[in-house]
Amino acid sequence: MNRNQIAVGAEAVLYLEDWLGMTVLVKERVPKGYRSVEFDSYIRRLRTINEVRAMIRARELGIPVPRIYDVDLVNMRIRMEYLNGVPLVKILMNNEELNDTIINYIRIMGNYIGVLHRNGIMHGDPTPANALIVDDKLYLIDFGLSEILGRAPTMRDIRILYKLALDLNVTLRSFEALRKDQSRLLFMEFLNGYRDAMGPELTDRINSIVNRVRRMVRYAVR
Ligand SMILES: Nc1ncnc2c1ncn2[C@@H]1O[C@H](COP(=O)(O)OP(=O)(O)O)[C@@H](O)[C@H]1O
Ligand SMILES: [Mg+2]
Repeated sequence: MNRNQIAVGAEAVLYLEDWLGMTVLVKERVPKGYRSVEFDSYIRRLRTINEVRAMIRARELGIPVPRIYDVDLVNMRIRMEYLNGVPLVKILMNNEELNDTIINYIRIMGNYIGVLHRNGIMHGDPTPANALIVDDKLYLIDFGLSEILGRAPTMRDIRILYKLALDLNVTLRSFEALRKDQSRLLFMEFLNGYRDAMGPELTDRINSIVNRVRRMVRYAVR
C-alpha cells in the first residue's frame, strides 16, 4: 500500500507522516467490518485511550516509551515518536545462542513490566514483539490492551494479582512460541528483572498464580 507504511497489525495500520515538520509515526485503528459499527467504534476508542494513557503513565515512571504528540479520537489516530529500531523478537529469532546482550534485554524488559505492575498497570501484551531496541536501549510499545488497575498490588489483592499473572502468562507463552527449549530460561531471566521492581514476595505469589492458571488450562483442554 502506502510507501510510508510501517506495519499492518491486527487492528491498526502504522505509517510515517510529516507533521509540523517532523517525521512522526501514526497508529490508526481502522474500522473492522466483522464487528457492529457501535461496538467497533467503542473498542477502537477504548484502546486508543488506553494506549495513550498508559504510555503517558509509563513515561512518568521512567520507562522508555515513544513520546505522544497528538491523539485524534475522531479518526482513532495516535501520533507518536518514530523509533527507528529493531523489535526484540527479531533479535531473538536471528540469534540461535542466547548471549549476554539478549539476556540483559530480557531482564530489562522484565524490570519495566515489574515497574508497571508495581504501579498497578498491566501492559496487556508484554511480548518481545512489543519491545523495540534503539541504540542498545529498550523501549516498550503497544499499550492498547493495557489496563490501569487503580492501585498498587498487595499480597491480599487476589483480583489484581490474578490480572498481573495473566500479563506474565502472555510473556511466558510468547517465549514458548519463540523458543520452546529455552522458554523457561528466558522467563527466569525476565522474572529476575521483574523481581527487582516488584520484590520477591509479590513476584513469587504472582508466579505461583501463573503456574496455577497454566495447570487449569492444561486440564481444560483435555
Ligand atoms: N513508535 C514506533 N516507532 C517505530 N516503530 C513502531 C512504533 N510503534 C510501533 N512500531 C512498529 O509497528 C509494529 C506494530 O505496532 P504495535 O503498536 O505493536 O501494534 P499492533 O497492535 O498491531 O501489534 C511494531 O511491532 C513495531 O515494529
Ligand atoms: Mg504489537
